[in-house]
Amino acid sequence: MARKIVVTSGKGGVGKSTICANLGVYLSRLGFRVLLMDADIGLNNLDVIMGMDKKVLFDITDVVSGKCRVRQALLQDQNYPSLYLLPSAHTYSSSKITGEHVKNVIDTIDHSFDYILIDCPAGVEAGFHRAVYAATEAIVVVTPHLSSIRDADKVVGLLGEYKIESKGIVINRMRGDLLLSGEMIDIESIVKAMGITLLGVIPEDDAMGKMSADGRIMTDCESARAFTLLAENVHNGSKKIYDCTYKYRGLIGYMKRNIKKHV
Ligand SMILES: Nc1ncnc2c1ncn2[C@@H]1O[C@H](COP(=O)(O)OP(=O)(O)O)[C@@H](O)[C@H]1O
Ligand SMILES: [Mg+2]
Repeated sequence: MARKIVVTSGKGGVGKSTICANLGVYLSRLGFRVLLMDADIGLNNLDVIMGMDKKVLFDITDVVSGKCRVRQALLQDQNYPSLYLLPSAHTYSSSKITGEHVKNVIDTIDHSFDYILIDCPAGVEAGFHRAVYAATEAIVVVTPHLSSIRDADKVVGLLGEYKIESKGIVINRMRGDLLLSGEMIDIESIVKAMGITLLGVIPEDDAMGKMSADGRIMTDCESARAFTLLAENVHNGSKKIYDCTYKYRGLIGYMKRNIKKHV
């Protein structure tokens, strides 16, 4: 049986889809069979982030309506053969798809994967319910900003209404230079405010929105180490968290920090 993890946040634009895609890549690099399930229906973008948007033939609505079988809708990643994507619908027909539908789809393919990562839409309405319903674990994504932390906290409360057995937070877009200068909310305070386990910290990294020439998610960038640690921690509870401040320490680090401030 696969571990079924929903990646959620409440607030939009904090990096749920990015983290879902990258965590999928890094778990598959560890040798696991991973399915990325895009539950952000109508505003799908996991296929775009994965460079698979041109290959979509069928999507989750086709599976639910019986137009195709689940396996026909799955797209295999060209770089990581144990990584698959089940795309969401391009048109907004979400009202027809319920949490129960998503669960039925997952039940059909559960045995073929080690991990099913469900990318949740923003908000706490029907789309949230649809994405969370079939999950047994949750990753709550926050950025170091009060509005994001407040929304994520609400989501943690709502998760209590579902069969979520374990949950943790990932702090995304952390800036090591601002952390050291005390201009960004620190990790401890976020963890304390949220009151749930810290699974990982991902640095602000310009490479995140880019792709390599062969359509691959960038893996030779700063965030790569952070995602490797996150994948290991999710898998075996290693508790190793990426330190965003390391390159800003010492004399050279001090200079880097100041250069960054002036650009
Ligand atoms: N760690 C990061 N560093 C830099 N940009 C990031 C990072 N995480 C996400 N982004 C960018 O932020 C934007 C929103 O991310 P996305 O994953 O689509 O958010 P969500 O799914 O929560 O709406 C995207 O343009 C993405 O490339
Ligand atoms: Mg998204």
